[in-house]
Amino acid sequence: MFRSLSRQLATKASINTPSKLQDVVIIGGGPAGLSLLAALKSSNKTKHLKCTLVEGASLDPIRNFGVNPPPEYTNRVVSLTPKTIEYMRDKIGNWNFINQERVNFYDTIVAYDSQDNEARIKFDASTIGDSVLAAMCENLNIQSSLLERIEELNLNTMDPEQKSILYDNTKVVEITGPEVAAEHELPYIDPKEGEPDLDWPTVTLSNGESLQARLLVGADGFNSSVRKFSHIASRGWFYNRFGVVATVKLQYEDYRSLAWQRFLTTGPLAILPLTDNNATIVWSSTPELSELLVSVDDAIFPHLVNAAMALEETDLSYIYSLLKKNPSDMNAVEEIKWRMSRVDSSLVDEGYPLPLESVVPRSRARFPLKMAHADTYTAPRVALIGDAAHSIHPLAGQGLNMGQSDVASLVSALEDGVTRGLDIGSTLVLEQYTANAWPSNHVMLGICDKMHKIFSTDWPPIVFFRGFGIKSLNMLGSFKDVIVRALSGR
Ligand SMILES: Cc1cc2nc3c(=O)[nH]c(=O)nc-3n(C[C@H](O)[C@H](O)[C@H](O)COP(=O)(O)OP(=O)(O)OC[C@H]3O[C@@H](n4cnc5c(N)ncnc54)[C@H](O)[C@@H]3O)c2cc1C
Ligand SMILES: *[C@@H]1O[C@H](CO)[C@@H](O)[C@H](O)[C@H]1NC(C)=O
Ligand SMILES: *[C@@H]1O[C@H](CO)[C@@H](O)[C@H](O)[C@H]1NC(C)=O
Ligand SMILES: *[C@@H]1O[C@H](CO)[C@@H](O)[C@H](O)[C@H]1NC(C)=O
Repeated sequence: MFRSLSRQLATKASINTPSKLQDVVIIGGGPAGLSLLAALKSSNKTKHLKCTLVEGASLDPIRNFGVNPPPEYTNRVVSLTPKTIEYMRDKIGNWNFINQERVNFYDTIVAYDSQDNEARIKFDASTIGDSVLAAMCENLNIQSSLLERIEELNLNTMDPEQKSILYDNTKVVEITGPEVAAEHELPYIDPKEGEPDLDWPTVTLSNGESLQARLLVGADGFNSSVRKFSHIASRGWFYNRFGVVATVKLQYEDYRSLAWQRFLTTGPLAILPLTDNNATIVWSSTPELSELLVSVDDAIFPHLVNAAMALEETDLSYIYSLLKKNPSDMNAVEEIKWRMSRVDSSLVDEGYPLPLESVVPRSRARFPLKMAHADTYTAPRVALIGDAAHSIHPLAGQGLNMGQSDVASLVSALEDGVTRGLDIGSTLVLEQYTANAWPSNHVMLGICDKMHKIFSTDWPPIVFFRGFGIKSLNMLGSFKDVIVRALSGR
């Protein structure tokens, strides 16, 4: 009551009042934006900064997850690397607030090729002396833990000026800055001591408020309005592929801690283990196939996944064609069962994942896949983090982890700036962030893009060489270590 009243007053008052000055304004309350806020407020060097975060959607689903988590796993689940987990535990301090019963560590990924069943590779954390490769965790679990951490930090802060401000259900209506002012020939006002410098970007919000930011951070995802405002170019392409996600139940609990990925020519299909017999899948495929995958009956979908993990692609094409005519065709299930019964039995136990029993109703969804990278992460008084800066194919599960290392690099650049007494919005301070974060992200984006392209073909010469490559990679321990290290963030 009180909060909404004061917000109303603020809306009315703001029409003629000047913009509120903030050190850091973060647009976007996804995993990247919330992580940055919590990390800034957890650091002794930056916690005095006045910070506001603006999120367009409601944060209620995130808050509710903490209080009353849904009985089934939600369908947005990511794989967190040990490096990300360490950062969350030691620097952001949100790992304590993670619902640990809904986190599943795993130590091995088995990847194999639909065109050559012999071509298999095991990425095993123990080869680099680690006991875990990664942990599966719901996006909502991460966001909820971050929100709780931010609330804890606010409670421990005496100075009201230093408490984080969060606006949800609040969209950015407009961002203006010096360039925009020049276009509209607004009078130039000489900045005086203590008055807002005209070169601070001004963010107008849908709640009527306007904020002037010493540093404006775009954590607003792929379609970033902050990136557009700052004229930072982003290069990339849509893959003409969709990632279908779903929460599924395996026929029984798998006591091995294994994740599975099969490279089909339409895109990779991964089965990632959650606790007990729960699992999540990410199936990248063509627009037509992905539409089929989200529309077939719940009773058919698990069989389709089982088939796609084991059968030849010609068999799969035939089954898809039956279902395209009729997405409820139970004959397709009979076809699958009959074809599966002919699969090499020596592979069934060790070579393939446990079969799916069922799919959680309404847990299927699809997302367009793309690769994009901003030319730079910073402009004067602007920084981009997370998907606002880069989008990656989900085949290596790196998207959210890259956002976490952006946060780590940006916070460390800002800490340095504060220590040296510099303006945290200045290019001098921000350039260090781009210099640290951009090159390694670029390498990871390139690897995943090339993997997608190499595996999306059944052209025999490529199939031969990738089969050969996978087999020789298995023998070349040291190169495999490099990949395992990259996947686990070491
Ligand atoms: C199928 C699939 C599988 C994936 N699997 C993995 C995985 O295994 N591991 C992994 O690390 N990553 C994975 N990812 C990627 C991961 O989900 C993203 O990288 C991550 O969600 C990006 O976080 P973000 O905070 O940068 O952006 P987002 O999650 O996109 O958040 C942006 C936020 O900004 C808000 N916003 C946008 N515009 C405005 C505005 N104008 N005003 C106010 N608010 C605004 C939005 O409402 C949103 O909440 C996967 C992605 C897909 C599609
Ligand atoms: C931050 O400051 C507090 C109180 O001054 C101190 O106890 C703590 O050790 C400091 N943390 C770090 C990481 O320096
Ligand atoms: C996972 O599955 C088991 C048994 O099927 C169930 O008891 C458990 O609560 C599930 N966990 C979640 C978070 O859905
Ligand atoms: C991207 O943002 C623009 C405004 O900048 C909006 O018109 C468009 O609908 C958005 N697209 C998506 C896919 O969200």
